[in-house]
Amino acid sequence: MRWFGYMIHRFDKLATELPEPAAPNANAAAAVQELMGGKFGEMSTIMNYTFQSFNFRARTKFRPFYDLVTNIAAEEYSHIELVAAAINLLLTGTTTRADRNAASPIKTKASKTNRIRGSGATKNGADPAPLVDAMDMRNTYHFIASGQQCLPIDSMGNFWTGQNVFCSGNLKLDLLHNFFLECGARGNKMRVYEMTDDPTARALCGFLLVRGGVHIVAYAKALEKLTGADVGRILPIPDVNNKKFPEAAKHEEKGLHTIMFRWSPEDYRELDKIWNGPHPEDGQELVVEDDIPEGAPWPEFTEEPQLVSPGSIDPEMIHWYSEALAK
Ligand SMILES: [Fe+2]
Repeated sequence: MRWFGYMIHRFDKLATELPEPAAPNANAAAAVQELMGGKFGEMSTIMNYTFQSFNFRARTKFRPFYDLVTNIAAEEYSHIELVAAAINLLLTGTTTRADRNAASPIKTKASKTNRIRGSGATKNGADPAPLVDAMDMRNTYHFIASGQQCLPIDSMGNFWTGQNVFCSGNLKLDLLHNFFLECGARGNKMRVYEMTDDPTARALCGFLLVRGGVHIVAYAKALEKLTGADVGRILPIPDVNNKKFPEAAKHEEKGLHTIMFRWSPEDYRELDKIWNGPHPEDGQELVVEDDIPEGAPWPEFTEEPQLVSPGSIDPEMIHWYSEALAK
């Protein structure tokens, strides 16, 4: 494998393993969208740090700070992926599977308006509506604009906007903003966690609380190195320790809250000038690791024929693939 010469090196893995949902849950997926496209969501963290890294002046003089912001931006990509996977797991199976192209007529429950009370049958042989359950879901974009998949939106369906990016060019101000952004993100994760007991959503929130917590401490330490202020003393914000959430505590027991991964084989060598000393909450020693986490496989998302998602393949192409695979 050759690392060098690539601007971006992507691996087909998720940052951590996500369990299957207890049951399909479109409204939990709608809530989790806040962690994707909300003001404090992962799209905001990645784009804030990415633009600040593009625009960073005097990189040589302020090298540890540049390395920190740029390196964290890289990790945020894996968080967007993980939120997407959680939303897609929660949305899978939320409407009745039915294939309008199938040889026999689609069999599914009748819509509310044409059903015969007490049975699944329809009045006058009316065509059933396999997406009828979507009528009661909080986010109908999931069923109309996508194939029961995540979108760059918040929990109320507002699309993410570049106005969420703050990039003043003043390092102290940008670091202060990033610290606030991560604390706001933490508050949102805690509230989504408290909204649903679904294991997929809670595993996502638990992991992001830990890794987002690393970024909170990183920006607190950066402000400390830049100004002498002891920002770590005001943690945790909001005032509940990650160890109170079982899905976060299990990661902290393995020390995941103390590790800054270096997301490059050669670059960002000065992370340890900021990421060092004791963790402000539990006193464990902070460490920089050169190896990125192994990750976990993406779930296989089942086809949803009632949304024609992903649709059909030309039979001749299926034949061609099977012949090619047999060689
Ligand atoms: Fe993140």
